[in-house]
Amino acid sequence: MAIRYLLGHELQTVEPQSPTETVLDHLRLRRHRLGTKEGCAEGDCGACTVVIGEVRDGAMAYRAVNSCIQFVGTLDGKQLITIEDLRDADGALHPVQQAMVEAHGSQCGFCTPGIVMSLFAQAKNAQRYDPTATADALAGNLCRCTGYGPIQRAAEIAFQNKAADAFDLMQGKTIAQLQAIKPTGSTPDYFSPRSCAELADVYMAHPDATLVAGGTDVGLWVTKQQRQLRPVISLSNVHDLRQIVETPTHLTIGAGVTYAEALPVLAPLWPDFAEVIRRLGSAQIRNVATLGGNIANGSPIGDGPPCLIALGASLILRRGTGHRCLPLEKFFLAYGKQDRQPAEFVEAIHLPKPEPGWAFRAYKISKRFDQDISALLGAFHVKIVDGMVADIRIAFGGLAGTPKRAAKVEAALRGKPWSQQRVAQAAESFAEDYQPISDMRASAEYRAKVAGNLLRKFHLELTHPEAETRVTFAGRRTHG
Ligand code: FAD
Ligand code: FES
Ligand code: FES
Repeated sequence: MAIRYLLGHELQTVEPQSPTETVLDHLRLRRHRLGTKEGCAEGDCGACTVVIGEVRDGAMAYRAVNSCIQFVGTLDGKQLITIEDLRDADGALHPVQQAMVEAHGSQCGFCTPGIVMSLFAQAKNAQRYDPTATADALAGNLCRCTGYGPIQRAAEIAFQNKAADAFDLMQGKTIAQLQAIKPTGSTPDYFSPRSCAELADVYMAHPDATLVAGGTDVGLWVTKQQRQLRPVISLSNVHDLRQIVETPTHLTIGAGVTYAEALPVLAPLWPDFAEVIRRLGSAQIRNVATLGGNIANGSPIGDGPPCLIALGASLILRRGTGHRCLPLEKFFLAYGKQDRQPAEFVEAIHLPKPEPGWAFRAYKISKRFDQDISALLGAFHVKIVDGMVADIRIAFGGLAGTPKRAAKVEAALRGKPWSQQRVAQAAESFAEDYQPISDMRASAEYRAKVAGNLLRKFHLELTHPEAETRVTFAGRRTHG
């Protein structure tokens, strides 16, 4: 299989060495582009950050990604920009690079190419300097020696000196070049279907294949577990899997929609859900990872499923030409086991929009605030009428082998007064709903205690909104 992509501004035709050859290995070992570094090889440190350019609605769109867990096949028809591409033809540094020099944003320099690429992507996507947005853009770039003050200052200078760069000036040509690249055909071990129908057919023919959406889970099977995956079906070019359809009552989110794409749609409806997503991984992860992958991986600590279950989401599953719709909570059968047939895939997530009287909150508990996996995550959705609980849905991740509803706690509250006393009584039923385990993230006792505390916090926030103290994603105030 030969794929074609632009490396900087030059068209490349390459044959991946395997369906899971990473972009980082491709750059360093085959292209001898050594500016992009390898730190962790698992999407955590950002040393390997590169920028992907692609044509969206007739213009170029740029996003930072971790090249260590992206497979080369995903470059097909796209532009790959690395640190080596930023300098002008006459050798002048890019304004972001120049700003890092001026602000003394680098010491040992190992993190610097990744940081520059993250700031380059941010400068491409934002009009003006915003310290919070810059901190968010850098949450996936670890620097152990410089400290983030000078790097933030570099971002500020870069925005002050922002001017059209070579990428802006060559945009028309780049778009024409990318549009001229014809999609790659399939090979025996790598498939890149362009539509859901094509995906369904190829998966029926190869039910043993590994589906790869953003690859932020699958990539680690390759780099950390050294697994040989063959065949691979990439979902990154299945355009009808990357759509969000909004009706007056529902959202239907395609399984291939990335977190970055979902965030602006979810934020006005459920600020807390959006805040959970904003804290999921880093910008590089959210730029490729999908809610579909978060569900399909069946992880008991995925952040999406508890929120979606509490919000009453259903899954649309597809096998060949057949569809079925399943309440999300029924998809998770046991640890590592989901209700999914061979060759069946998640096509979309169907989500009812907020209805009057309902309130939703989600609390992620992790050791670090950003870029950390949850020890537990509680999502609460309640309808209060005249001081009584008309209905309630509570779901937790991290308390059982699957994301799971707190059926006993819900029953203890449904139809009862929404009072502090009743909430404290109901919290005791968490012990019947969940038997949490101890692991490196938290002890069983801690998890059990926090679950009850989060229910109390939820009650407190709804009954005393003035007690909310921290600003979240969409500006609502909440406790830290
Ligand atoms: P992939 O890796 O492409 O796939 C994951 C699994 O789902 C695979 O088994 C794949 O075959 C299957 N799959 C994918 N799409 C479909 C489909 N449409 N139908 C059927 N099967 C499918 N997760 C969190 O929840 N919270 C975090 O804070 C978090 N932080 C992370 C930080 C880092 C540094 C990394 C590397 C990962 C992190 N993750 C986190 C895990 C991961 O990013 C998420 O689970 C993500 O949503 C996976 O989506 P993906 O598209 O990358 O899935
Ligand atoms: Fe650490 Fe890729 S090498 S994120
Ligand atoms: Fe040394 Fe950032 S400059 S790790």
